Amino acid sequence: MNKEAIAAIVERATSGQKPESTRVEATAPALTAEDLGMTDIERERSAMLHVLGLVGFRKKQLGQTFDAYVPQEESQKAAVEICQAFANDWPDVERGLILMGKTGTGKTHLAAATLREILTNEAVESGGWSLTNPVRMIRKYAWFRVPWLLNEYRDRRFESGAKLRERALTCDLLVLDELGAENATDFALDLLTDILGERYEEERPTVITINQATAGELKGRYGDRILSRFAGAYKRIRFTGDEPDWRTR
Ligand SMILES: Nc1ncnc2c1ncn2[C@@H]1O[C@H](COP(=O)(O)OP(=O)(O)OP(=O)(O)O)[C@@H](O)[C@H]1O
Ligand SMILES: [Mg+2]
Repeated sequence: MNKEAIAAIVERATSGQKPESTRVEATAPALTAEDLGMTDIERERSAMLHVLGLVGFRKKQLGQTFDAYVPQEESQKAAVEICQAFANDWPDVERGLILMGKTGTGKTHLAAATLREILTNEAVESGGWSLTNPVRMIRKYAWFRVPWLLNEYRDRRFESGAKLRERALTCDLLVLDELGAENATDFALDLLTDILGERYEEERPTVITINQATAGELKGRYGDRILSRFAGAYKRIRFTGDEPDWRTR
């Protein structure tokens, strides 16, 4: 389909006339980047945003790359190195990661940078973002903020809630951002115990961020069974410096 053909369809649609044949419209090929006059760079960027959105990235995560992270002290430097090594070694990693520390130390930023690097490596292997298979990417990778995941799961219920749970259980790499920030209900405990327990059994790595303030409550909240699984299945990254919160510095 060329630009004139698209212009004609748009013209008919906006003037209220029906297309000459709905059959032609139904069988018309999808718009290509060339039809839309997009350059290769625009097409790649648009494909990248599409994939990142499907995986679960929010707008805030789009700028959270390794390049944009400026370590302020030793524990942050060590954290970047561990996260970069994890992304480079992926999928040959034996343990997940737990990033733990005060507010604004960059836990979410580094978790996002790690997943972004892994996704970018996949895109490079496929020959570009626009050549990646989005369905495959969603099956392999998921980013969830824990409070969001619980709300969605509860609100959607039944079929689509089950799909969400299934994705969290079976994707190759799951990122759970802000574990402990959810309301501590039995419902939350059941779902999280289920996800973490199943992933542990299947040896599927998970990257978790936990705020220091809630870390102390985890034992009381999730109990020894989950915590003992954390011990062997995750590498801990602790942000120990007393740099001010990056957001308010
Ligand atoms: N060292 C850093 N270099 C560049 N940007 C940073 C750095 N640390 C944090 N930021 C930015 O500051 C903001 C807060 O960081 P982030 O969300 O990663 O904090 P957090 O440790 O997850 O905090 P919380 O425990 O409140 O969730 C983000 O926009 C992040 O990109
Ligand atoms: Mg965070």
